[in-house]
Amino acid sequence: MNNLDKTAAQRRAATLRKEINAHSYRYYVLNRPIVSDSVYDALVDELRKIEARFPELITPESPTQRVGAEPAEGFTKVEHPAPILSLDKATSREELFAWRARISKLLPEDAPPLTYTVEPKFDGLTVVLHYHDGQFTLGATRGNGEIGEEITSNLRTIPSVPLSLPLPPDGPTPPTTLVVRGEVLILLEDFAALNERLLEAEETPFANPRNAAAGSLRQLDPRITAERPLTLYAYSIVTAEGERAGALPATQQGTLDYLKALGFPIADEVIRHFDSFDAVADYCEELTERRESLPYEADGIVIKIDDLAVREALGAVGGRPRGAVAYKFPPQEATTDLLDVEFTVGRTGVITPTALLAPVTIAGVTVSRASLHNFDLVAERDIRVGDRVIVHRAGDVIPYVVGPIADVRTGDERPITPPTHCPSCGEPVAHAEGEVAYTCINATCPAQRVQKLIYFAHVMDIDGLGERTALQLVDAGLITNPADLYALDLDDLLPLEGFAEKKAQNLLDAIAASKAQSLDRVIAALGIRGVGATVAEVFAEHFRAVEALAAADAATLEAIEGIGPITAQDVTAWFARDRNREYIEKLRSAGVTLAMAAPSDSDDKKAVAAPFDGLTFVITGTLSQPRKEIAAWIKARGGKVTSSVSSNTDYLVIGESPGRSKFNRAQKLETPIIAEETLRNLASERGA
Ligand code: IVH
Repeated sequence: MNNLDKTAAQRRAATLRKEINAHSYRYYVLNRPIVSDSVYDALVDELRKIEARFPELITPESPTQRVGAEPAEGFTKVEHPAPILSLDKATSREELFAWRARISKLLPEDAPPLTYTVEPKFDGLTVVLHYHDGQFTLGATRGNGEIGEEITSNLRTIPSVPLSLPLPPDGPTPPTTLVVRGEVLILLEDFAALNERLLEAEETPFANPRNAAAGSLRQLDPRITAERPLTLYAYSIVTAEGERAGALPATQQGTLDYLKALGFPIADEVIRHFDSFDAVADYCEELTERRESLPYEADGIVIKIDDLAVREALGAVGGRPRGAVAYKFPPQEATTDLLDVEFTVGRTGVITPTALLAPVTIAGVTVSRASLHNFDLVAERDIRVGDRVIVHRAGDVIPYVVGPIADVRTGDERPITPPTHCPSCGEPVAHAEGEVAYTCINATCPAQRVQKLIYFAHVMDIDGLGERTALQLVDAGLITNPADLYALDLDDLLPLEGFAEKKAQNLLDAIAASKAQSLDRVIAALGIRGVGATVAEVFAEHFRAVEALAAADAATLEAIEGIGPITAQDVTAWFARDRNREYIEKLRSAGVTLAMAAPSDSDDKKAVAAPFDGLTFVITGTLSQPRKEIAAWIKARGGKVTSSVSSNTDYLVIGESPGRSKFNRAQKLETPIIAEETLRNLASERGA
């Protein structure tokens, strides 16, 4: 940005203003924002920086000149009893320490050492709750910090908002007037269920939990709010007056404990108190790693000086208190330009569109390609080449294009149409009416061969066989299907570019070693549609040999727990093909594992294999292995795993940070709640 000249800066500022205004309109007027707050903030930050460098470019209408948001028409305005302040932010360990250094300078030298309370920064909606004589009398949104919107009836519908205080019979009696600040949000688990429901009703699902919470809370009809799974977390006292107002806790930690004793939900699982600032910074880094295991979306962590009198004395600048700071998680979304589209042929011949993007950094990683999923989605979201698009990247998931920002189109954008011919072999593309997929059905298509080979090598753990080598092998005509790998020798590999003797021998050794892979790996490596690691494991346990699996008809397959009719059909169709039979025979003659070692006592084995026969489990929270693997382990023992707790559930298996709604439901239905260790013990007890 620093190298922008004034003309370029002016152009960029104009584009940014247009984009920011479009988002503001969606957010405040339509109640349907399409980008996260972090994306919006990044755009405003960029505009601020340009305006700071070229102040003559500032216009009165610039979004940077607007203070807070105007409350929408339709709600009564409420003046807050004290300003509902916002927070200063830090985005690195250095910035955290800089904040601490700034406040230390403002405190007297002989001041006692500071201690800190750390809380999640909930990505929801700020609410202000008024209680008089313990009764909930008024609730408002934050609005512009001074004036909010009155949403009392909507807040009343939220089960976790206490309507009278104290909620527990042994709780403290609150002051005559008590105003509490908190955040309303939707737990991730509830969000998934809500969107599923909307989809079933053929309504538009929400883009993220925050939008869902915002849209639900700012409803003029509280009956709609009541149907939405909103939750409250409280985190501070805005004001207190009258009797007992003087006896409130003097610290943030004390305030949180007090709010909890009154019956407000607080973020127990995250809140910590620290004496050392190094420990604070370490904890921030730890939480950044664990953010995805939290039951709600958090966009950062709030660090507060624990002593409320010290915080008060430090005052505020620009509507932000000095005594607290928000450590922001790296944003998971950004906007960029969609420059072009590439068509990729997968191992099953399905052609998918990939977006080529102007490089953009998301959560510390430069992204220049992103998935467009499929052509149906491209059409539905009307994504075009030349569009400004929102890109999402979280954890290990491949970055994907969320959608276009249609409001800033210039008219030069062009639609994305599925290819009529395969980009690899040039054969015509097949597309069945009503199906999503566009497929290259040419069995000799080189791109498919390469992809099949990469997949096989990946599943069979053949080191040194990545995309480049796979391409070389297929190009040289050495491989038509993965079984040909086992016929390779040094003379085949040495002529290939980059293959010296050592590298070639290593590859041959890795190929030879893969012959001993377990049966379930081999079944997965065949690349049959719908047969990934979990299903392959079920088949291996059940049939114990590829031959037996190949002989099974669709009805037999479908009778197996966890196998649906589509997979059953795909499996029988695959084995019915001569070409695939030949492929299996080639693997057999190469000496690849195609059967399990015979069990010593088959009857006994059967009893051990199905200790969970007839039992249904639900899993929640973080366990010792990914949930999918635990589910596969249960299924391999004859159990069933479902996603929600019902009267048919036999056990709820819980790990760390379990989902609140599953937990509550299990308690309500008196479903036994067990830990992972108990689950394992149960298997050995029932298996014995
Ligand atoms: S404390 C003086 N604590 O984040 C206290 N804010 O820009 C200032 N937020 O919309 C706020 N979680 O409502 C605080 N644990 C938390 C929070 C939190 C979310 C929101 C806040 C505001 C934004 C800060």
